[in-house]
Amino acid sequence: MKVLLTGGAGFIGSHTCVELLSQGYDAVIADNFCNSERDVITRCEKITGKKIACYDADVADKEAVSSIFAKEKIDAVIHFAGYKSVPESVKLPVMYYRNNLDTTLTVLEVMKEFGVKIFVFSSSATVYGDKNPVPFTEDMPTSTTNPYGTTKLFIEKILTDTAAADGEMSVVLLRYFNPIGAHKSGLIGENPKGIPNNLMPYIAQVASGKREMLHVYGNDFNTPDGTGVRDYIHVEDLAKGHVKALEYAAKNAGCEIFNLGTGIGYSVLDIVKAFEKANGIKIPYVIDPRRPGDIDESRADVSKAAKILGWKAEKNLDDMCADTWNWQKNIK
Ligand code: UFG
Repeated sequence: MKVLLTGGAGFIGSHTCVELLSQGYDAVIADNFCNSERDVITRCEKITGKKIACYDADVADKEAVSSIFAKEKIDAVIHFAGYKSVPESVKLPVMYYRNNLDTTLTVLEVMKEFGVKIFVFSSSATVYGDKNPVPFTEDMPTSTTNPYGTTKLFIEKILTDTAAADGEMSVVLLRYFNPIGAHKSGLIGENPKGIPNNLMPYIAQVASGKREMLHVYGNDFNTPDGTGVRDYIHVEDLAKGHVKALEYAAKNAGCEIFNLGTGIGYSVLDIVKAFEKANGIKIPYVIDPRRPGDIDESRADVSKAAKILGWKAEKNLDDMCADTWNWQKNIK
Protein backbone atom coordinates (compact mmCIF):
# COMPACT_ATOMS: atom_id res chain seq x y z
CA MET A 1 0.00 0.00 0.00
CA LYS A 2 1.34 3.44 -0.95
CA VAL A 3 0.58 6.14 1.62
CA LEU A 4 0.81 9.91 1.10
CA LEU A 5 1.93 11.71 4.24
CA THR A 6 1.09 15.41 4.06
CA GLY A 7 3.39 17.24 6.46
CA GLY A 8 5.46 14.06 6.53
CA ALA A 9 8.69 15.90 7.40
CA GLY A 10 7.27 17.12 10.71
CA PHE A 11 7.73 15.62 14.17
CA ILE A 12 4.91 13.05 14.08
CA GLY A 13 4.90 12.63 10.28
CA SER A 14 8.59 11.69 10.10
CA HIS A 15 8.27 9.06 12.84
CA THR A 16 5.18 7.65 11.13
CA CYS A 17 7.03 7.56 7.80
CA VAL A 18 9.83 5.49 9.39
CA GLU A 19 7.32 3.13 11.00
CA LEU A 20 5.36 2.65 7.76
CA LEU A 21 8.51 1.88 5.77
CA SER A 22 9.76 -0.54 8.42
CA GLN A 23 6.44 -2.39 8.25
CA GLY A 24 6.63 -2.76 4.46
CA TYR A 25 4.40 0.13 3.35
CA ASP A 26 5.45 2.61 0.66
CA ALA A 27 5.51 6.23 1.78
CA VAL A 28 5.36 9.45 -0.23
CA ILE A 29 5.86 12.77 1.54
CA ALA A 30 4.39 16.16 0.59
CA ASP A 31 5.68 19.00 2.75
CA ASN A 32 6.38 22.71 2.23
CA PHE A 33 8.99 22.67 5.04
CA CYS A 34 7.45 25.73 6.72
CA ASN A 35 8.07 24.14 10.12
CA SER A 36 10.56 21.36 9.36
CA GLU A 37 14.00 20.81 7.85
CA ARG A 38 14.78 19.17 4.51
CA ASP A 39 17.41 16.88 5.96
CA VAL A 40 14.68 15.05 7.92
CA ILE A 41 14.02 13.10 4.70
CA THR A 42 17.66 11.96 4.40
CA ARG A 43 17.60 11.00 8.06
CA CYS A 44 14.45 8.90 7.59
CA GLU A 45 16.16 7.25 4.61
CA LYS A 46 19.22 6.55 6.75
CA ILE A 47 17.12 4.92 9.48
CA THR A 48 15.10 2.76 7.10
CA GLY A 49 17.63 2.14 4.32
CA LYS A 50 14.89 3.07 1.83
CA LYS A 51 14.53 5.90 -0.68
CA ILE A 52 11.59 8.21 0.07
CA ALA A 53 9.71 10.09 -2.66
CA CYS A 54 9.39 13.62 -1.30
CA TYR A 55 7.56 16.53 -2.91
CA ASP A 56 8.26 20.11 -1.85
CA ALA A 57 4.62 21.14 -2.06
CA ASP A 58 2.00 23.16 -0.24
CA VAL A 59 -0.96 20.80 0.03
CA ALA A 60 -3.36 23.73 -0.22
CA ASP A 61 -2.13 24.00 -3.83
CA LYS A 62 -4.53 21.80 -5.78
CA GLU A 63 -2.38 21.58 -8.91
CA ALA A 64 0.61 20.45 -6.88
CA VAL A 65 -1.42 17.80 -5.03
CA SER A 66 -3.06 16.58 -8.25
CA SER A 67 0.31 16.15 -9.91
CA ILE A 68 1.53 14.02 -6.95
CA PHE A 69 -1.55 11.80 -7.26
CA ALA A 70 -1.04 11.58 -11.02
CA LYS A 71 2.60 10.52 -10.65
CA GLU A 72 2.33 8.20 -7.65
CA LYS A 73 -0.34 5.57 -7.24
CA ILE A 74 -1.61 6.72 -3.85
CA ASP A 75 -3.82 4.29 -1.92
CA ALA A 76 -4.29 6.23 1.31
CA VAL A 77 -3.54 9.60 2.91
CA ILE A 78 -2.37 10.43 6.41
CA HIS A 79 -2.94 14.16 6.80
CA PHE A 80 -0.47 15.79 9.21
CA ALA A 81 0.01 19.12 7.41
CA GLY A 82 -1.22 22.08 9.42
CA TYR A 83 -0.24 24.89 11.74
CA LYS A 84 -0.11 23.80 15.36
CA SER A 85 0.75 26.61 17.73
CA VAL A 86 -2.03 27.52 20.17
CA PRO A 87 -0.77 31.08 21.00
CA GLU A 88 -0.02 31.84 17.35
CA SER A 89 -3.55 30.75 16.42
CA VAL A 90 -4.98 33.22 18.95
CA LYS A 91 -2.99 36.05 17.29
CA LEU A 92 -3.53 34.93 13.69
CA PRO A 93 -6.87 33.10 13.55
CA VAL A 94 -7.58 33.76 9.88
CA MET A 95 -4.20 32.35 8.88
CA TYR A 96 -4.94 29.23 10.92
CA TYR A 97 -8.45 28.70 9.53
CA ARG A 98 -7.25 29.40 5.98
CA ASN A 99 -4.29 27.03 6.11
CA ASN A 100 -5.66 24.15 8.14
CA LEU A 101 -9.02 24.04 6.36
CA ASP A 102 -7.66 24.70 2.84
CA THR A 103 -5.06 21.94 3.07
CA THR A 104 -7.68 19.43 4.20
CA LEU A 105 -10.31 20.43 1.63
CA THR A 106 -7.77 20.38 -1.20
CA VAL A 107 -6.54 16.90 -0.29
CA LEU A 108 -10.14 15.65 -0.05
CA GLU A 109 -11.02 17.11 -3.48
CA VAL A 110 -8.02 15.50 -5.12
CA MET A 111 -8.69 12.18 -3.37
CA LYS A 112 -12.21 12.24 -4.80
CA GLU A 113 -10.87 12.91 -8.30
CA PHE A 114 -8.49 9.98 -8.08
CA GLY A 115 -10.87 7.63 -6.26
CA VAL A 116 -8.72 7.37 -3.11
CA LYS A 117 -10.89 6.37 -0.15
CA ILE A 118 -8.67 6.00 2.92
CA PHE A 119 -7.95 9.03 5.12
CA VAL A 120 -6.29 9.18 8.54
CA PHE A 121 -6.33 12.56 10.29
CA SER A 122 -4.07 14.11 12.94
CA SER A 123 -6.59 15.44 15.39
CA SER A 124 -5.93 16.46 18.96
CA ALA A 125 -7.14 15.96 22.50
CA THR A 126 -7.69 19.72 22.45
CA VAL A 127 -11.20 18.98 21.05
CA TYR A 128 -12.26 17.69 24.50
CA GLY A 129 -12.23 21.34 25.64
CA ASP A 130 -12.25 22.39 29.28
CA LYS A 131 -15.51 20.88 30.58
CA ASN A 132 -15.13 17.10 30.41
CA PRO A 133 -13.99 14.96 33.36
CA VAL A 134 -10.89 12.78 32.86
CA PRO A 135 -10.28 10.28 31.40
CA PHE A 136 -11.63 11.50 28.06
CA THR A 137 -13.63 9.01 25.99
CA GLU A 138 -14.20 9.44 22.27
CA ASP A 139 -17.96 9.91 22.69
CA MET A 140 -17.69 12.93 25.01
CA PRO A 141 -18.98 16.32 23.84
CA THR A 142 -16.40 18.45 22.08
CA SER A 143 -15.54 22.13 22.42
CA THR A 144 -12.43 24.26 22.03
CA THR A 145 -10.71 27.17 23.69
CA ASN A 146 -8.58 28.53 20.83
CA PRO A 147 -8.62 28.83 16.99
CA TYR A 148 -6.06 26.02 16.53
CA GLY A 149 -8.35 23.64 18.41
CA THR A 150 -11.35 24.88 16.46
CA THR A 151 -9.61 24.07 13.15
CA LYS A 152 -9.20 20.47 14.41
CA LEU A 153 -12.86 20.33 15.41
CA PHE A 154 -14.05 21.79 12.08
CA ILE A 155 -11.90 19.32 10.17
CA GLU A 156 -13.28 16.42 12.22
CA LYS A 157 -16.76 17.59 11.21
CA ILE A 158 -15.81 17.94 7.53
CA LEU A 159 -14.38 14.42 7.54
CA THR A 160 -17.38 12.95 9.37
CA ASP A 161 -19.70 14.46 6.73
CA THR A 162 -17.44 13.28 3.89
CA ALA A 163 -17.48 9.70 5.17
CA ALA A 164 -21.27 9.85 5.65
CA ALA A 165 -21.76 11.00 2.05
CA ASP A 166 -19.62 8.28 0.48
CA GLY A 167 -20.27 4.73 1.63
CA GLU A 168 -16.86 3.58 0.35
CA MET A 169 -14.91 6.24 2.23
CA SER A 170 -12.95 5.28 5.31
CA VAL A 171 -11.86 7.97 7.77
CA VAL A 172 -10.01 7.59 11.04
CA LEU A 173 -9.69 10.59 13.37
CA LEU A 174 -6.75 10.19 15.75
CA ARG A 175 -6.91 12.38 18.84
CA TYR A 176 -3.34 12.73 20.04
CA PHE A 177 -2.59 13.51 23.64
CA ASN A 178 0.91 14.94 24.34
CA PRO A 179 3.51 13.44 22.00
CA ILE A 180 7.13 13.65 23.23
CA GLY A 181 10.33 11.61 22.88
CA ALA A 182 12.23 10.97 19.67
CA HIS A 183 13.37 8.09 17.48
CA LYS A 184 15.77 5.79 19.36
CA SER A 185 18.47 6.38 16.70
CA GLY A 186 18.67 10.05 17.76
CA LEU A 187 18.37 10.99 14.06
CA ILE A 188 14.87 12.50 14.12
CA GLY A 189 12.90 14.31 16.82
CA GLU A 190 11.18 17.57 17.64
CA ASN A 191 13.05 20.79 16.91
CA PRO A 192 10.70 23.76 17.18
CA LYS A 193 11.69 27.07 15.59
CA GLY A 194 12.02 29.91 18.15
CA ILE A 195 10.97 29.61 21.78
CA PRO A 196 9.22 26.26 22.36
CA ASN A 197 5.56 26.47 23.40
CA ASN A 198 5.47 22.90 24.68
CA LEU A 199 6.89 21.52 27.87
CA MET A 200 9.29 18.79 26.73
CA PRO A 201 11.10 20.75 24.00
CA TYR A 202 11.53 23.58 26.51
CA ILE A 203 12.99 21.23 29.14
CA ALA A 204 15.31 19.76 26.49
CA GLN A 205 16.58 23.24 25.62
CA VAL A 206 17.18 24.04 29.30
CA ALA A 207 19.16 20.77 29.53
CA SER A 208 21.31 21.73 26.54
CA GLY A 209 21.99 25.21 27.97
CA LYS A 210 20.03 27.04 25.24
CA ARG A 211 17.53 28.32 27.85
CA GLU A 212 18.28 29.33 31.39
CA MET A 213 15.36 27.79 33.25
CA LEU A 214 11.93 26.30 32.80
CA HIS A 215 8.91 28.50 33.50
CA VAL A 216 6.27 26.33 35.16
CA TYR A 217 2.90 27.82 34.29
CA GLY A 218 0.96 27.69 37.54
CA ASN A 219 1.09 25.57 40.70
CA ASP A 220 -2.49 26.17 41.81
CA PHE A 221 -4.27 23.66 39.55
CA ASN A 222 -6.57 21.07 41.04
CA THR A 223 -3.90 18.31 40.81
CA PRO A 224 -1.77 16.49 43.43
CA ASP A 225 1.22 18.91 43.22
CA GLY A 226 -0.70 21.88 41.78
CA THR A 227 0.95 21.75 38.33
CA GLY A 228 -0.90 20.73 35.16
CA VAL A 229 -1.33 17.02 34.46
CA ARG A 230 -1.09 15.62 30.92
CA ASP A 231 -1.02 12.25 29.17
CA TYR A 232 2.43 12.14 27.52
CA ILE A 233 2.96 9.57 24.78
CA HIS A 234 6.18 8.48 23.09
CA VAL A 235 6.16 9.56 19.42
CA GLU A 236 7.25 6.06 18.34
CA ASP A 237 4.16 4.57 20.02
CA LEU A 238 2.07 7.25 18.33
CA ALA A 239 3.60 6.34 14.95
CA LYS A 240 2.65 2.68 15.49
CA GLY A 241 -0.90 3.82 16.27
CA HIS A 242 -1.07 5.40 12.78
CA VAL A 243 -0.13 2.12 11.12
CA LYS A 244 -2.83 0.32 13.12
CA ALA A 245 -5.32 3.03 12.14
CA LEU A 246 -4.40 2.59 8.49
CA GLU A 247 -4.85 -1.20 8.71
CA TYR A 248 -8.24 -0.62 10.28
CA ALA A 249 -9.28 1.96 7.66
CA ALA A 250 -8.26 -0.36 4.82
CA LYS A 251 -10.77 -2.93 6.09
CA ASN A 252 -13.65 -0.76 7.38
CA ALA A 253 -15.62 1.99 5.68
CA GLY A 254 -17.12 4.80 7.78
CA CYS A 255 -15.63 7.20 10.30
CA GLU A 256 -14.08 6.23 13.64
CA ILE A 257 -12.37 8.26 16.34
CA PHE A 258 -9.53 6.95 18.52
CA ASN A 259 -7.62 8.48 21.39
CA LEU A 260 -3.88 7.91 21.21
CA GLY A 261 -2.40 8.31 24.68
CA THR A 262 -1.11 6.11 27.47
CA GLY A 263 -3.97 6.70 29.90
CA ILE A 264 -1.43 7.83 32.54
CA GLY A 265 -1.22 11.42 33.77
CA TYR A 266 1.99 13.17 34.83
CA SER A 267 2.34 16.67 36.26
CA VAL A 268 4.84 19.27 35.03
CA LEU A 269 6.99 18.59 38.11
CA ASP A 270 6.79 14.80 37.50
CA ILE A 271 8.21 15.41 34.04
CA VAL A 272 11.00 17.64 35.38
CA LYS A 273 11.97 14.97 37.95
CA ALA A 274 11.78 12.13 35.42
CA PHE A 275 13.96 14.03 32.95
CA GLU A 276 16.53 14.79 35.67
CA LYS A 277 16.60 11.15 36.77
CA ALA A 278 16.77 9.63 33.27
CA ASN A 279 19.55 11.92 32.07
CA GLY A 280 21.41 13.05 35.21
CA ILE A 281 20.88 16.72 34.35
CA LYS A 282 19.41 19.33 36.69
CA ILE A 283 16.50 21.37 35.29
CA PRO A 284 16.19 24.66 37.15
CA TYR A 285 12.68 26.08 37.15
CA VAL A 286 10.61 28.98 38.39
CA ILE A 287 6.87 29.06 39.09
CA ASP A 288 5.08 31.60 36.87
CA PRO A 289 1.39 32.49 36.57
CA ARG A 290 -0.95 30.16 34.69
CA ARG A 291 -0.99 30.25 30.91
CA PRO A 292 -4.44 31.29 29.57
CA GLY A 293 -6.58 28.33 28.50
CA ASP A 294 -4.62 25.61 30.35
CA ILE A 295 -6.75 22.97 32.09
CA ASP A 296 -6.05 20.99 35.29
CA GLU A 297 -5.77 17.62 33.67
CA SER A 298 -5.92 15.96 30.25
CA ARG A 299 -5.83 12.18 30.10
CA ALA A 300 -7.07 9.59 27.61
CA ASP A 301 -9.30 6.62 28.06
CA VAL A 302 -7.33 4.28 25.82
CA SER A 303 -9.68 1.29 25.84
CA LYS A 304 -11.24 1.89 22.41
CA ALA A 305 -7.89 1.84 20.55
CA ALA A 306 -6.85 -1.25 22.51
CA LYS A 307 -10.08 -3.09 21.74
CA ILE A 308 -10.61 -2.12 18.11
CA LEU A 309 -7.12 -1.36 16.77
CA GLY A 310 -5.22 -3.77 19.02
CA TRP A 311 -2.88 -0.89 19.85
CA LYS A 312 -1.45 0.11 23.19
CA ALA A 313 1.44 2.46 24.03
CA GLU A 314 4.48 0.46 25.19
CA LYS A 315 7.11 3.01 26.17
CA ASN A 316 7.28 4.60 29.60
CA LEU A 317 8.19 8.08 30.82
CA ASP A 318 11.81 7.09 31.34
CA ASP A 319 12.08 6.09 27.64
CA MET A 320 10.41 9.37 26.62
CA CYS A 321 12.90 11.45 28.65
CA ALA A 322 15.99 9.46 27.62
CA ASP A 323 15.08 9.49 23.90
CA THR A 324 14.29 13.22 23.97
CA TRP A 325 17.75 13.96 25.36
CA ASN A 326 19.48 11.46 23.04
CA TRP A 327 18.08 13.56 20.18
CA GLN A 328 18.39 17.05 21.69
CA LYS A 329 22.06 16.68 22.74
CA ASN A 330 23.07 16.36 19.07
CA ILE A 331 21.23 19.50 17.91
CA LYS A 332 23.65 22.31 17.15
N1 UFG B 1 4.07 24.03 30.57
C1 UFG B 1 4.89 24.71 31.43
N2 UFG B 1 5.93 25.41 30.90
C2 UFG B 1 6.18 25.45 29.57
C3 UFG B 1 5.33 24.75 28.70
C4 UFG B 1 4.27 24.04 29.23
O1 UFG B 1 4.70 24.71 32.65
O2 UFG B 1 7.15 26.12 29.13
C5 UFG B 1 2.98 23.22 31.15
C6 UFG B 1 1.59 23.60 30.68
O3 UFG B 1 1.05 24.61 31.49
C7 UFG B 1 0.85 22.26 30.77
C8 UFG B 1 1.93 21.23 30.48
O4 UFG B 1 3.17 21.88 30.71
O5 UFG B 1 0.39 22.05 32.09
C9 UFG B 1 1.92 20.74 29.03
O6 UFG B 1 1.95 21.84 28.16
P1 UFG B 1 2.25 21.68 26.59
O7 UFG B 1 2.28 23.04 26.00
O8 UFG B 1 3.44 20.82 26.38
O9 UFG B 1 0.99 20.84 26.10
P2 UFG B 1 -0.57 21.21 26.14
O10 UFG B 1 -1.23 20.09 26.88
O11 UFG B 1 -0.84 22.57 26.58
O12 UFG B 1 -0.89 21.19 24.59
C10 UFG B 1 -0.77 20.01 23.82
C11 UFG B 1 -0.46 20.34 22.39
C12 UFG B 1 -1.60 21.07 21.75
C13 UFG B 1 -2.86 20.34 21.95
C14 UFG B 1 -3.08 19.98 23.40
C15 UFG B 1 -4.26 19.06 23.48
O13 UFG B 1 0.69 21.13 22.29
O14 UFG B 1 -1.35 21.14 20.37
O15 UFG B 1 -1.94 19.30 23.92
O16 UFG B 1 -4.41 18.45 24.67
F1 UFG B 1 -3.89 21.10 21.55
